[in-house]
Amino acid sequence: MTEAVVIDGKALALELRQGVGRAAAGLKADHGVIPGLAVVLVGEDEASRIYVRSKGKSAEEAGLRSFHHGLPEDTAEEDLLALVHDLNGAPDVNGILVQLPLPPGISPSAVIGAIDPAKDVDGFHVVNAGRLATGGPGALVPCTPQGCLMLLKHHLGTLSGLNALVIGRSNIVGKPLAALLLGEHCTVTVAHSRTRDLPAVSARADILVAATGRARMVKGDWIKPGATVIDVGINRVPDGDRTRLVGDVDFGSAVKVAGAITPVPGGVGPMTIACLLRNTLIAAARQHGLEDPEI
Ligand code: GUN
Repeated sequence: MTEAVVIDGKALALELRQGVGRAAAGLKADHGVIPGLAVVLVGEDEASRIYVRSKGKSAEEAGLRSFHHGLPEDTAEEDLLALVHDLNGAPDVNGILVQLPLPPGISPSAVIGAIDPAKDVDGFHVVNAGRLATGGPGALVPCTPQGCLMLLKHHLGTLSGLNALVIGRSNIVGKPLAALLLGEHCTVTVAHSRTRDLPAVSARADILVAATGRARMVKGDWIKPGATVIDVGINRVPDGDRTRLVGDVDFGSAVKVAGAITPVPGGVGPMTIACLLRNTLIAAARQHGLEDPEI
């Protein structure tokens, strides 16, 4: 049996970041605008620190400005809200990202709701979620689902009429991705922890996206032969006396059945960051009354 094509998210993300870099250079040359991204990290969570550092570094490599705000774990909600308010009013900040999860005692919905929707480069504000859900123009689209969609279109071309299964119903991935896939004319199923007979549901899916947060949960024998599998999971599991990253899909069995599959690492993860840079560029252009750049 032939093995699945392994979709190279790193390569596609590099292309996208280079496109953002070219568009950012054009924005600076033609309009004197340098897009600025503010990243806010509350607390000391190691994984979050690594993501945030990587977001800032990638922004600078693409010619954007990056502003880092590190706040202590015991920050009061009102102090975080005051920072968000300042960033909303800062002219050199075009995008604001508050890294999640936030420490207990701070309401994520209050913080996300305080971000100016025009600077909400995560696309989590209800205004952007509503625009996406209603198919209206002007949404800033959440980065991980946007990255998944780009990977799917890169591999499959048109998605129209395909059965797409999204496993996971989070506001960050599952729900916005379902909206994007509907927009591409897929027949969309959203499965979750209470779904009955997930293997039978999976067997009908031409596209299967796993965003469950459970290491290697989706098994090869659930997958429709030839299906395109997108693995959003990033799970750290023990490996001898060290640890390693694995996805929500059991790659070893899935690669024997799927037509194409994203690896972990090197699949969706790099696309998420590239899409964040793209959103920051789009947000900056819109804030200056310019057309969305072609990237
Ligand atoms: N934590 C995990 N993923 C994300 C993301 O896409 N954005 C933010 N702000 N926090 C996250």
